[in-house]
Amino acid sequence: MGDPVTDYTARLQQQEREIQSLSAEIESLKNPQDLSSSPRLDELREENAKLKYRLNILKRSLQEERTYCSKSMMNINQRLQEVFGEAIRASCPELDNPPLAVTPNQQAKFGDYQCNSAMAMAQMLKAKGIKVNPREIAEKIVQNLPDNELTQKTEIAGPGFINIHLKRSFVSKLLSNLLINGVQPPPLASKKRVVVDFSSPNIAKEMHVGHLRSTIIGESMSRLFEFLGHDVLRLNHVGDWGTQFGMLIAHLQDKFPDYLTVSPPISDLQAFYKESKKRFDEEEDFKKRAYQCVVRLQSKEPDFIKAWNLICDVSRREFQKVYDCLDIQIIERGESFYQEMMTEVVKEFEEKGLLQLDEGRKVVFVPGQPIPLTVVKSDGGYTYDTSDLAAIRQRIFDEKADVIIYVTDSGQGTHFQVVFAAAQMIGWYDPQVTRVEHAGFGVVLGEDKKKFKTRSGDTVRLMDLLEEGLKRSMDKLKEKERDKVLSQEELIKAQRSVAFGCIKYADLSHNRINDYVFSFDKMLDDRGNTAAYLLYAFTRIRSIARLANIDEATLRKAAETTEVILDHDKEWKLGKCILRFPEILQKILDDLLLHTLCDYLYELATTFTEFYDSCYCVEKDRQTGEVVKVNMWRMLLCEATAAVMAKGFDILGINPVQRM
Ligand code: ARG
Repeated sequence: MGDPVTDYTARLQQQEREIQSLSAEIESLKNPQDLSSSPRLDELREENAKLKYRLNILKRSLQEERTYCSKSMMNINQRLQEVFGEAIRASCPELDNPPLAVTPNQQAKFGDYQCNSAMAMAQMLKAKGIKVNPREIAEKIVQNLPDNELTQKTEIAGPGFINIHLKRSFVSKLLSNLLINGVQPPPLASKKRVVVDFSSPNIAKEMHVGHLRSTIIGESMSRLFEFLGHDVLRLNHVGDWGTQFGMLIAHLQDKFPDYLTVSPPISDLQAFYKESKKRFDEEEDFKKRAYQCVVRLQSKEPDFIKAWNLICDVSRREFQKVYDCLDIQIIERGESFYQEMMTEVVKEFEEKGLLQLDEGRKVVFVPGQPIPLTVVKSDGGYTYDTSDLAAIRQRIFDEKADVIIYVTDSGQGTHFQVVFAAAQMIGWYDPQVTRVEHAGFGVVLGEDKKKFKTRSGDTVRLMDLLEEGLKRSMDKLKEKERDKVLSQEELIKAQRSVAFGCIKYADLSHNRINDYVFSFDKMLDDRGNTAAYLLYAFTRIRSIARLANIDEATLRKAAETTEVILDHDKEWKLGKCILRFPEILQKILDDLLLHTLCDYLYELATTFTEFYDSCYCVEKDRQTGEVVKVNMWRMLLCEATAAVMAKGFDILGINPVQRM
């Protein structure tokens, strides 16, 4: 016996070939002009009908095998779009690019999904001078629907909406697949090399809340791409190069002259930075020496490299504390990595005649862009622009990136827009081939809706913020008297899970484009769309089986043998909601807006509650409280819900705990 997957694949391939040759044959039968009087005509027509019939059966079984034998989760919306797309094209050959709109339906009475293309198609036809009623178009679409594995029936409503009802057996089968195979990504069309540039604080300066947003969002985006099967390179583009290092080193030489042999205790690098900046602004001699230090650092004099490394290390250790708390994986590849490449970049622009002189600076003007890029300053130094040009070039040519995403505050939008335009102008990439995007985000505000600051008006240190989160989360757990039920170890785990989960979720659940108000009270509230609510909901679902004494082995066995019945309205609603996971991820892949995943998880949790409130999973004896009946298919629905939630948490970077 061969491996079933290989067997199936071989069968599928053979069927695909057969379909192709049948299609070709039908194609050749389509043109019966000269045959109108031929005695062969009837014969051909009959043959044609048979072929069509057989083709449909083959197509259908091919789809079914695809659905049922694949381990990956099907994107139902996408599949409906394929089916409806075919019908739409067949109904309206006049339109080259007919609009394809299929969306899930919130209100059950209108079916499970809806296709709204008919109205837009009528508009498009009208523009071409063809007057058709959208309802008529809808009717045509329905008539042209190919035989398929997932729709039960369709109804036309209102001006031309098509309500789509899914087959229960289909949904049930997909749920069984999910339970057997686990939550798998949808099939991967092509594996991409993805660079995510995120976090990227500046050495010697404090990592601020803006960097916190970038860190949280970038980590989650990376996880999403990884889950979908892509090859992700997470890069920390730290600001570790530039003139400020001259003054830092000059100051280091004065304050810790033996820094070459003894590690200097610059625990407060921020203060150290401030002192050196002050001297730089006030002392003429110091300023001169600072400039010399920059030159000597750039020419890689060992003592200067050593001093620079010392300073970077102090910052690095600080950043790492934040990354450890938030479980962030990232490779440091700061601006200094691109030093030599910056020289090459300037040369390349120069040789292509794209550099202009402007008051001693070398600048690049990109047609259509609001500002030029400064690639060489009047003192000969490079800038943030130069390093980003070098970085994008390195990512395209050396890293062979297919996708490059930059996660920073929206304030840097213009900078990236011009950098991308310059890179296209010089011919480094074609936006049709390489996806290069700035995923910008709004600023973090305090509860007073003003810029996030401490009471005394200083910027908030991230570690202080995270520590306050821990404290508040412990207070909350104690308020709920969880310390009385959980072991010390469990309590600490729950504390970290809630604190860091809430901080991340609060950020991710807001549309990143908007500013967002940082509020511990809101994020730790266990009602509403918060991590606290979801984490509690999750542990509750996980405990249902445990409290009914059903072990994992039993559930695993049941997944293979028990049909997931979806007769009750709430079972049906939950089943469909669970299966929307792949379409949610697909959408985020397109727009990089992670709050859609949070909204979905919240919807899943509330849909679950509705189900749980009206459908008994286990039935107990009223007197003894003993379990008298287990409705295993419902236990399976609990399992499937929990599995999708767990995967969702994983993508958001949230760590659920067993007990809390
Ligand atoms: N260090 C910069 C800052 O703190 C962010 C760098 C973002 N990445 C990039 N390739 N420019 O604002």
